Amino acid sequence: MKNQDTMQDKEQMKSLEDIFEAKIARDEKIEPKDWMPEKYRKTHIRQISQHAHSEIVGMLPEGNWISRAPSLRRKVALLAKVQDEAGHGLYLYSACETLGISREELYDQLHSGKAKYSSIFNYPTLTWADIGAIGWLVDGAAIINQVPLCSTSFGPYARAMVRVCKEESFHQRQGYEIMMTLCNGTQEQKDMAQDALDRWWWPALMMLGPTDDESTHTEQSMKWKLKRKTNDELRQQFIDQTVPQADILGLKVPDEDLQYNTETGHYDFGEIDWEEFWQVVKGHGMCNKERISARKNAWDEGEWVRDAALAYADKQADKEVKEAV
Ligand SMILES: [Fe+2]
Ligand SMILES: [Fe+2]
Repeated sequence: MKNQDTMQDKEQMKSLEDIFEAKIARDEKIEPKDWMPEKYRKTHIRQISQHAHSEIVGMLPEGNWISRAPSLRRKVALLAKVQDEAGHGLYLYSACETLGISREELYDQLHSGKAKYSSIFNYPTLTWADIGAIGWLVDGAAIINQVPLCSTSFGPYARAMVRVCKEESFHQRQGYEIMMTLCNGTQEQKDMAQDALDRWWWPALMMLGPTDDESTHTEQSMKWKLKRKTNDELRQQFIDQTVPQADILGLKVPDEDLQYNTETGHYDFGEIDWEEFWQVVKGHGMCNKERISARKNAWDEGEWVRDAALAYADKQADKEVKEAV
């Protein structure tokens, strides 16, 4: 009897898996209440939460410059951008919660170091030109990464990405405009822009992830249409798109091996220092400790706000019950 039960369970599981796979093949969305393999759920929690953490940690290096922006117009634009990143974090945490994990657990994973976020945010913002370079390069790389995610298979993630991508385009443009203004300014301003490009170029390339042969998750993620392009394809696309923009600015990309290849129609580029990438991922970047402690403080100092909001919600619920009686 037991054997028969197990057989039935197996058959049932197989047909659920078939329905799931067929949906993915037809490019239909998987929704939170649909059956999904446990590995699909876990992989999505990992990727969406990593993305959400990157959005809110990404607020820190730029938030650092809000009070020092050189004009009211720049301050307003930067403030709006940093607020957008908070919004992206909130959409993505909400999308992640639909997979059965709580916001508290997600924050806990970030604070304990169990969950990762984009390594680029562990670099410091030393001058105002860094704000231009981040918008241009970091948000630029984020767009390349995220546009394919608008058609990813998990519904809540795909829908969140549509709005996120629209806002990222604004971020990229405001960054490029800062660079353009600096490059049309004094020699000192142009030098500042070049210095920012020198420091942010390589970390921006690393942001698109390890090379395909080193990336452990790529194959499965491509199969589930969680990922639609490989890291190397995305990196090449970013380079091909960004080098001509540097030319317009009159800046030099800090790579001696960079050269347009007429045969392939793409830019060939130099060796990326992956050792630096892994050091930063492992927590040894310049600002890893500072970023995590800023996030922890925000969580601890916000406790009274969360408590007050819950107490208010309870009071309102009580009032509604009394009024109903
Ligand atoms: Fe964002
Ligand atoms: Fe952004």
